[in-house]
Amino acid sequence: MSKTPDTSAPMTDLLAARWSPRSYDQTHEISDQELLSILEAGRWAPSSNNGQPWRFSVAKRGTELHQKVVEGLTGFNQSWAPAASVLIVVSVKKSEDGSSHKGNFYDAGLAVSLMSIQAQSLDLYTHQMGGILHDELHKTLTLSSDLEVAVVFSVGKKDSPEKLAEPAREREIASRTRLPLSEIVLHGKP
Ligand SMILES: Cc1cc2nc3c(=O)[nH]c(=O)nc-3n(C[C@H](O)[C@H](O)[C@H](O)COP(=O)(O)O)c2cc1C
Repeated sequence: MSKTPDTSAPMTDLLAARWSPRSYDQTHEISDQELLSILEAGRWAPSSNNGQPWRFSVAKRGTELHQKVVEGLTGFNQSWAPAASVLIVVSVKKSEDGSSHKGNFYDAGLAVSLMSIQAQSLDLYTHQMGGILHDELHKTLTLSSDLEVAVVFSVGKKDSPEKLAEPAREREIASRTRLPLSEIVLHGKP
């Protein structure tokens, strides 16, 4: 099953290969070296004033931490994400006054984006999840009050769509769609 997009000009292979599966091989173990490569990709992401406002909680399948993270996912995500080799909770620094910091979310998204590409280079697939219980995760991971949970993403080996229950199976085999460039490039499209 190919999920490679049709593009008007070639993208680099890793970007063309990336997509977000839900069927993961639940026997696959990620190595510490692979995990470190992915974390280094996040560590070396650019950020505003080099503020590095991201923090990661790394929960390998089978650990106590993993169970806590799974309990912090909403129902649909709980149906597929636990099979991934690892779940990574991304937290971001709040503003001094305790409010959410837009720029820090931007920086953290950029870090996760690079981590996804690093994972792809190891033939590991990532899937980000906003369907999470933010406050519950903050509590169970005993995160400090200057942090807020942004997203959880899974990393692992892709498996067959047949392993999934509906509606995830149908989504797994659906073709990928995007808005046309003519809609998203407001000015200066070649
Ligand atoms: C911030 C963010 C939150 C997301 N939340 C979820 C989620 O809770 N559950 C889920 O199954 N997919 C989630 N996704 C995956 C998107 O649905 C997916 O990236 C999008 O449909 C594009 O598909 P592709 O990544 O395969 O290109 C999320 C993606 C992002 C970037």
